[in-house]
Amino acid sequence: MIVCAFSLLHWLDLCVKFILSFPKRRKIINPRRITPYPQNLPMKLVRFDTLKGHRGKVWCAKWNSSGTILASCGEDKTIRLWGMTGNGKWKLKTVLQDGHQKTIRDLAWSPCGKYLASASFDGTTAIWDNLGGEFECNAALEGHENEVKSVSWSPNGNLIATCSRDKTVWVWQVENDDYDCAAVLNAHTQDVKKVAWSPSGDLLVSASYDETIKMFKEDPNDGDWTSIGTLKSHSATVWSISFDQTGTRFASCADDGSIKIWRQYLPGNPEGVATVDNDPTWKCVCTLSGYHDGPVYDVDWHPTKNLLATACGDNGLRLFEESDDSNPNEPAFEMVAADYNAHAQDVNCVKWHPTDSGLLVTSGDDEVVCIWQVV
Ligand SMILES: *[C@@H]1O[C@H](CO)[C@@H](O)[C@H](O)[C@H]1NC(C)=O
Repeated sequence: MIVCAFSLLHWLDLCVKFILSFPKRRKIINPRRITPYPQNLPMKLVRFDTLKGHRGKVWCAKWNSSGTILASCGEDKTIRLWGMTGNGKWKLKTVLQDGHQKTIRDLAWSPCGKYLASASFDGTTAIWDNLGGEFECNAALEGHENEVKSVSWSPNGNLIATCSRDKTVWVWQVENDDYDCAAVLNAHTQDVKKVAWSPSGDLLVSASYDETIKMFKEDPNDGDWTSIGTLKSHSATVWSISFDQTGTRFASCADDGSIKIWRQYLPGNPEGVATVDNDPTWKCVCTLSGYHDGPVYDVDWHPTKNLLATACGDNGLRLFEESDDSNPNEPAFEMVAADYNAHAQDVNCVKWHPTDSGLLVTSGDDEVVCIWQVV
């Protein structure tokens, strides 16, 4: 009888343990979100590869112009160069160290592919030369007072733009491995987060903590650089900007969780949008809000399609496509794909592959770089 009672208790105990061992249904509660995340979107993002090796935040990942080499950088003060292997996976080829004393925040390949520029919180921008596959740091652009946040090479490779927490944007002239400061632009009132060139290279655009986007141009007569416009529509730090292939539009993303599309209007445009001094004017023609649950840190316009990729502080990667019947004065973009858990922490950077139209790279605070395939 005692044995029997014992075994009954034993069985009860086992039953309880068995039930308790079921995984708890995870309840996802996001107090900021009112509507559920859209599911069953027309396109899917497949995680193709995860590149591990960095320690700490990975701030940026950039393909060289042929897309055969990928450079990443971050808090660990290193640049990692990854090469594609036969099966489409990416493998670490080199680690570049000792170029910087602090976090490396941004990278830019020269259009010819021979140079890689790295912007650092140590206040300098290093230039690495590719000497037959070996990279050597051969120049340091010094002048910013503190953290350099972004670096961008002009499309013809003759100019480099940098920007900093010191509120300035610098333009550097590149000549036979010499780098001379051509302009210091004091237009922003706060930290400048990003610099980008238009595809034709005649317009330089910067985004700032002061919530504005500034545009700069060189006067062909005297070579002087001046601010030619301020675009204000975001209600928080503007983190990044990306031009479309024509250079007549660009997208911006901000801490306010929105994406904005800006369009150029030439003097005498049929829409009657006012212009000043025979210069084109830029107008915000579309705002995408309600999709992101955090700051949008990066946006990248596809090299050949009207498809935007965004990197968000809510760990998500999202794609937005322009509708076929989109009105150029009020373009319509729809979210077509999303991975709401693309990274385990903030997604800092997103870039389309330059030639393989369905490939993307992201990098995050979770120490990894991810390669994505759109299907
Ligand atoms: C990109 O990098 C690879 C590997 O170093 C090189 O073979 C290729 O020529 C580079 N592309 C350009 C445009 O420089």
